[in-house]
Amino acid sequence: MSERPIGIFDSGIGGLTVCRAVRDLLPSENIVYFGDTARFPYGTRSQDTIIRYSREITEYLTSRNVKMIVIACNTASAAALETLRTECSVPVIGVIEAGARAACARSQNGPIGVIGTRATVNSGSYVKAIRRIRPDSAVIQQQATLFVSLAEEGLTQTEIARLAAREYLEGMYGSGVRTLILGCTHFPLLKKSIKTVYPDIDLVDTGEEIAHEVSSILQERQIFRNSDEPGTVELYASDLTESMQLLKEKFFGINTARLTKLVI
Ligand code: DGL
Repeated sequence: MSERPIGIFDSGIGGLTVCRAVRDLLPSENIVYFGDTARFPYGTRSQDTIIRYSREITEYLTSRNVKMIVIACNTASAAALETLRTECSVPVIGVIEAGARAACARSQNGPIGVIGTRATVNSGSYVKAIRRIRPDSAVIQQQATLFVSLAEEGLTQTEIARLAAREYLEGMYGSGVRTLILGCTHFPLLKKSIKTVYPDIDLVDTGEEIAHEVSSILQERQIFRNSDEPGTVELYASDLTESMQLLKEKFFGINTARLTKLVI
């Protein structure tokens, strides 16, 4: 049993999708979320820089006495998970392993598709994670950076979003991909548009998957919070951008879970 909070971090607003999924599955847990909006995006940065940023956030979360750390950001999971695991005394999990596991369990045959930022795709992390589970799996990757901007601008259910979905996914759909990992925190916001263009693609939402992994770790280690009272949700961002405020209201309402600026 533990009152200590779960620490969740992301490069910006997108990780709120993960935060919401954890909150829905584990409402009595206390959560501290940090979105690095001032240094967003991570997807175009080098691995060294992403590791440095991730380490700084981890140091802050550790100072808050978190019982585990969830890297909600695919780009940071790809670049920094291994490093942070060796440096932290609490469990650190990233979205990539959870997404890979779910895709392998759900895909029947044909290649598994992965979309993400350039950094995530170039790291090959999803390919490696999938092949660790199913060594003979074919995996087709595609960077889909424009989806990040569409989500940031609130243009998720528009003709531009559907055109971008066609542009990014046509090739892999033609190659037989019917299971697609949404390998970026922002991409679940585009699910409807992707589904409109490709109704028979099964979309793997890594945020939902990782919430289940958080739950298993808390149970295994007996560090869940045993209370009928809802836990607290503290949301911090390194810059209070308009898109962060809007997404916070969408996922957590106006009055719950105050959003505070925090420069680490
Ligand atoms: N959180 C990032 C990810 O999941 C969003 C994009 C970015 O920072 O470039 O990859």
